[in-house]
Amino acid sequence: MQRRQQAVARGVFHATPIFAARAEGAIVEDVDGNRYIDLAGGIGCSNVGHRAAPVLKRVQAQLERYLHTCFSVAPYEPYIALAERLNQVVPGKFPKKTFLANSGAEAVENAIKIARAYTKRPAIICFDDAFHGRTMMAMTLTSKTHPYKAGFEPFMSDVYRIPYAYCYRCSYGLKYPACELSCARALEDVFKRVVAAESVAAVIAEPILGEGGFMAPPPGFFETLTMICRKHGILFIADEVQTGIARTGTMFACEQFGIEPDLLIAAKSLGGGLPIASVTGRAEVMDAPGVGGIGGTFGGNPVACEAALAVLQMVEDEQLCGRASQIGDRFLARAKRWQIKFPIVGTIHGMGAMRAMELVRSKETLQPADKETQQVVKYCYEHGVITISAGTYGNVIRLLMPLVISDEQFDEAMNVLEAALQSVTAGYTATVPDSEKVAHA
Ligand SMILES: Cc1ncc(COP(=O)(O)O)c(C=O)c1O
Repeated sequence: MQRRQQAVARGVFHATPIFAARAEGAIVEDVDGNRYIDLAGGIGCSNVGHRAAPVLKRVQAQLERYLHTCFSVAPYEPYIALAERLNQVVPGKFPKKTFLANSGAEAVENAIKIARAYTKRPAIICFDDAFHGRTMMAMTLTSKTHPYKAGFEPFMSDVYRIPYAYCYRCSYGLKYPACELSCARALEDVFKRVVAAESVAAVIAEPILGEGGFMAPPPGFFETLTMICRKHGILFIADEVQTGIARTGTMFACEQFGIEPDLLIAAKSLGGGLPIASVTGRAEVMDAPGVGGIGGTFGGNPVACEAALAVLQMVEDEQLCGRASQIGDRFLARAKRWQIKFPIVGTIHGMGAMRAMELVRSKETLQPADKETQQVVKYCYEHGVITISAGTYGNVIRLLMPLVISDEQFDEAMNVLEAALQSVTAGYTATVPDSEKVAHA
């Protein structure tokens, strides 16, 4: 840790003081030989597990062939094979094309460039509590000021923000379904009061908020949004960097909502631990930038492409979508009991194996329990479980466990999480408002 502090820039965050020595499946071992059940998966990058055998096999075979020629100099088959595969698995019954990049943020930047090139319009609409990365446009699209934006101004122009369907803390003070999806319908109002529809290139959204706290919008939200977009010739971009690759119970979360985005961004778990990201979308949209307008030296590195091909095959072969739903159900069964037992557990967010608990000091005022959230994270890693927090208010415990986790490992981790909640709730009295009982019945 001393060497890290001496040599590595302070701004690079670490959620735990665990220094990794090796990792396998859902287990991380540290340099002192301690074993941890990993519920973070390197922030959602290990859906197929650490060092998954099919990934290692394809990577090792590629290591014997070539590491880098640059697709823009001497193209190679793994890039094309991955593009073909993504064109098949990304939702949308229309011809598609794919562009590959190195990171989620880089893919976000490129999706915006592609949308602007196609529509010849400047404006982008994004959401409260969104996270799209740390590069200049991605940071501008990101919502949370500290630590992501403050001090890094000025931001990019022509970016407008509207409330997301964060029903637990509705921006309009309404309740679903009586709200009649005011937040989604507000988009039409934005075109009158903030930015003209004909100036808007795209709306970009995470199907389920990631860093924002794992809120999943209610049925109808995305249908309404995409319908309004289509009406005005605005592209809909789904940022599936965190929600993608079987995490929510389908290959991509858009499938859960029955929507077909014009552009879909994937990254994180796509590479099975190696850095790779993609933008996949309508062929005519993807072809809008001129030759050389999009690209990058390392984008679609062949070793990472081989890893991604193995990942997509593994999702199918090992039925990881079904497994994500099973894990989600197993968590829900337990978390619903915690919600009654521990007053600090305000609500449960997410879908499939993308799950989170929002911790509050009072179920009446919903005051965020941010310090307690950090205590839970600390308790967990001190007792052999890696968890991470999230949320604009820093009061969400989120779970991104490898989908290859066994039931025994999962239950062991849940026992620790329960003990952590117990340790921070001593002294509280349990009350669950009726609204919450209904919401999670
Ligand atoms: C939804 C979403 N978009 C974009 C990003 C940025 O990805 P990266 O960290 O690979 O640049 C993230 C990272 O957490 C994310 O969750």
